[in-house]
Amino acid sequence: MEEILRVKNLKKTFGEKTIHHAINFTLHKSETIGLLGNSGTGKSVLLRCLIGLETMDDGEVWLGKERIDLLKEEAMFKIRTRISYAFQSGALFDSLNVYENIAYPLREHLKLTHKEEEARVSEMLKLVRIGESGELFPSDLSGGMQKRAGLARAMVLYPEIILYDEPTAGLDPVNVENVLEIMRAFKAKGTAGIFVTHDIIAAKKVCDRLLIVDSGRIVFEGTVKQFEESTNDIVKNFQSTH
Ligand SMILES: Nc1ncnc2c1ncn2[C@@H]1O[C@H](COP(=O)(O)OP(=O)(O)OP(=O)(O)O)[C@@H](O)[C@H]1O
Ligand SMILES: [Mg+2]
Repeated sequence: MEEILRVKNLKKTFGEKTIHHAINFTLHKSETIGLLGNSGTGKSVLLRCLIGLETMDDGEVWLGKERIDLLKEEAMFKIRTRISYAFQSGALFDSLNVYENIAYPLREHLKLTHKEEEARVSEMLKLVRIGESGELFPSDLSGGMQKRAGLARAMVLYPEIILYDEPTAGLDPVNVENVLEIMRAFKAKGTAGIFVTHDIIAAKKVCDRLLIVDSGRIVFEGTVKQFEESTNDIVKNFQSTH
């Protein structure tokens, strides 16, 4: 399978505190990997490093054949059309309606005609099944619908990779299933994903491989079956506490 992202020996510190010693992993086209780890192990920081929202101390990030960790802000801005970040909080703009929220990345990065923009936004609204809600403002939406609108915004530029930061956190079981269904729909379009979550059950449903981050390193990497059958103490401990 074609490799689209490779992270080599990523190191990240904040002052005296080392969050990541040496993170190594790869992601393939159309693959979804689950990034599991306890709270505070640096999962969100890792995602932010990948798209240059945090500076790394050492290591390399390759998007296909291009090394992206050394890029200047202007070049990184373009990379964010290819790797998009679905924020942990959803992060919709309260002053914009749902349509405008989803159209925002299009207006930032592409020069589409009004008609093209409308077609793209309405495709996304349908894909996340909030087709009738374009005119509503974020405050009018349920938590589940806000998450879906956030996912539509993350997908609107047809990125190669979506970084999902806890997309199911705080949702009831029905809305969790809705989000997982959307992730499957994006994957079916060929989009790869990194799914950061505490929710092992959800991760098993959509991920091809699972990784556990602990003490600044990837301490387990394997298929769902390997994860379930693992005799590794860290994996067993993680399974019993989540
Ligand atoms: N800008 C910052 N300055 C200093 N420390 C930071 C900064 N951002 C994050 N940290 C620290 O980095 C560590 C990892 O944070 P991060 O948010 O990545 O954890 P996480 O694994 O995403 O946790 P959670 O599962 O709760 O979302 C935490 O100890 C946090 O306090
Ligand atoms: Mg986090």
